[in-house]
Amino acid sequence: MNVYDSERMSDTVNKTHSLVSSPDNADAILLNTCHIREKAAEKVYSEIGKLADFKNKNKNLKIIVAGCVAQAEGKAMLQRQPIIDAIIGPQKYQELPDILSNKTNKRKIFLEFDEEEKFFKLGNSRKKSLISSFITIQEGCNKFCSFCVVPFTRGAEYSRSVNDVVEEARSLCQNGCKEIILLGQNVNAYHGNDSRNVQTNLAKLILELEKIKNLDRISYTTSHPRDMDEALIDLHASSKKLNPFLHLPVQSGSDTILKNMNRKYTSKEYLNIIDKIRKKVPNIALSSDFIVGFPGESRRDFKETLNLVKEVKFAHAYSFKYSKRIGTKANRIDCDISEKEKNERLQELQTLLKDQKKNFNLSFVGKEVDILLKGKGKKENQFRGATKWMQTVIFECKKSMVKSQLKLKVKDAFDNCLMGEIV
Ligand code: 5AD
Ligand code: SF4
Repeated sequence: MNVYDSERMSDTVNKTHSLVSSPDNADAILLNTCHIREKAAEKVYSEIGKLADFKNKNKNLKIIVAGCVAQAEGKAMLQRQPIIDAIIGPQKYQELPDILSNKTNKRKIFLEFDEEEKFFKLGNSRKKSLISSFITIQEGCNKFCSFCVVPFTRGAEYSRSVNDVVEEARSLCQNGCKEIILLGQNVNAYHGNDSRNVQTNLAKLILELEKIKNLDRISYTTSHPRDMDEALIDLHASSKKLNPFLHLPVQSGSDTILKNMNRKYTSKEYLNIIDKIRKKVPNIALSSDFIVGFPGESRRDFKETLNLVKEVKFAHAYSFKYSKRIGTKANRIDCDISEKEKNERLQELQTLLKDQKKNFNLSFVGKEVDILLKGKGKKENQFRGATKWMQTVIFECKKSMVKSQLKLKVKDAFDNCLMGEIV
């Protein structure tokens, strides 16, 4: 979502500012930040420290911190780093043009949750379009998982209207976009209003987007198991444009830990959803997030996570060590697991997930896949594309022959990519 936010921030200021490639030439430096785990927040302070030299050389330089670290730290951040000119939360970056043109009366802190105003001011027309582009359709979260800062930094659940999303998608597709990835912290809880002002759901929104002629692929992330309704599962079977990919974080395979995380489902309920969706789309790529070392996680709890992974067989996954976040409920529980134990658990889980990713990718060897071109590879005449299962495919091709959409034959597979050849 920060990639999307950064694109929109740069769109909002394009009348007065343009992107430069080095901070030496900048009139303003904007850091967009993430607060989900501790490491990310500390990185921001070290980045700001590095910017002091630029400010010394250019007194008019504006340093602005946006995103969830700004939201969470607020005034404290200004006190720790007085070189900052403005602090903007993720629901307030519509103020950027005014901040940059000194129209905000020396105000430095912008942290209100004004989603409606934000999307209204941003508008639905996009200046730039990538072959695969993001659209935020939903923001914030009401779930309050005990480890997570999102409900505090992004605010309560908010859904954009169907019309707004479709207009933005049309604007992207007029400029060459072929794949749209719908974003939300809790994307399948989407409940935006339709054209008759009636609350709708993600499945209905996707059906509207499917009508856009030159849009080929639709994906959505991140979903919560509790909001994985029948309509959405059914749509995976009937839709011609929905990618066979589902990112459905389970976090843990232990019912005790799931309860303490306030996830409100059991491992069996999660497995039932997987079963249902696999019955509809047998070759779907399943992806998940995992946290190891949540307070109180015993070796037996962790084994239950490994067992769940063995049962599901994921095509893709992110896994993290539990990170204490101020303000969350889990922060009040003493974390009794040593760093060494957390590292070992993470290693064990990641080895298993890596094997599963490789096996999933190996099942494509010898098959033909359609790709959307994503960019150049590391070597001369090498390119990168993406399948609709969201795998990266590396292939060689003369520059003059490369096209934005190609059919490739898969020659080899690894845990993080496929190797292909033009058919
Ligand atoms: N510690 C570790 N991982 C976390 N995540 C969210 N909060 C924390 C935390 N406090 C992970 C979850 C979530 C993903 C976006 O980040 O797995 O799904
Ligand atoms: Fe955070 Fe996702 Fe839980 Fe919401 S559902 S609190 S965003 S982990």
